[in-house]
Amino acid sequence: MTITAHPPVRVAVAARAVDVWKVYGSGEAQVVALRGVSMEVAAGRFTAIMGPSGSGKSTLMHCLAGLDAVTRGEVHIGDTKLTGLGDAGLTKLRREQVGFIFQQFNLLPTLTAEENILLPLAIAGRKPDREWFRTVIDTVGLGDRLGHRPSQLSGGQQQRVACARALVSRPEVVFADEPTGNLDSRSGAEVLSFLRSSVREHGQTIVMVTHDPTAASYADRVVFLADGRIVNELTEPTPQKVLDAMQSLDRVAADTAGAES
Ligand SMILES: Nc1ncnc2c1ncn2[C@@H]1O[C@H](COP(=O)(O)OP(=O)(O)OP(=O)(O)O)[C@@H](O)[C@H]1O
Ligand SMILES: [Mg+2]
Repeated sequence: MTITAHPPVRVAVAARAVDVWKVYGSGEAQVVALRGVSMEVAAGRFTAIMGPSGSGKSTLMHCLAGLDAVTRGEVHIGDTKLTGLGDAGLTKLRREQVGFIFQQFNLLPTLTAEENILLPLAIAGRKPDREWFRTVIDTVGLGDRLGHRPSQLSGGQQQRVACARALVSRPEVVFADEPTGNLDSRSGAEVLSFLRSSVREHGQTIVMVTHDPTAASYADRVVFLADGRIVNELTEPTPQKVLDAMQSLDRVAADTAGAES
């Protein structure tokens, strides 16, 4: 019997951090938020980032998305190296290659759902791909709400508008910081199902920060941060596996605190 050696399967990388450090402030007020984080975000996958409050999740996401500059290290989105890109280059990259979903929805109150969804394209001077727009609207299930303003929509519906807005330009990566943090569990599940189907059915790449093991279980991979470092990761997470990993992180933190005192 002959054994054929297969070349390693290479997964395309949508975003990459290489030994990223982030230091806020200086002197007494200095905070080291990231301490040498290296990670690759696989294209066409759903990645969740978890960790205790203050562990650096939002900082990592902002650095990966080009919203915040790193102190040391490198960040790449697709083939573009962000570090050293300059303000104009970063603005263009954020506009064309990155989508954002925030905990607070961040919709403009005077615009309708449809106008909110199309706003980033309008700002970039790009025409929407009508067919893709319909696909996104159908997937988020907002067909009958497009003329409504945010105040006329439920929280879950507003967040689905924000998801559609992030996806309509087909960005290289969508970053979501606690997208279900302000939603009840049913609306949260709707948003998460939508995010997952945009990955499974349309090949979108998503990175999501969450505190919720159930939310994290929608992802393909969960990366755990503690004190500015990646300390663990899981693939094919279930809520129970995520919960167990979180509890073992807490135990390590308690042991470390015990050893220090
Ligand atoms: N603009 C800033 N200036 C100074 N320190 C900051 C700034 N932003 C974040 N930090 C600090 O950096 C650390 C990491 O913050 P970060 O917001 O990334 O945490 P997080 O994991 O997202 O927490 P949470 O779950 O509470 O949102 C914290 O100690 C925080 O106080
Ligand atoms: Mg945060």
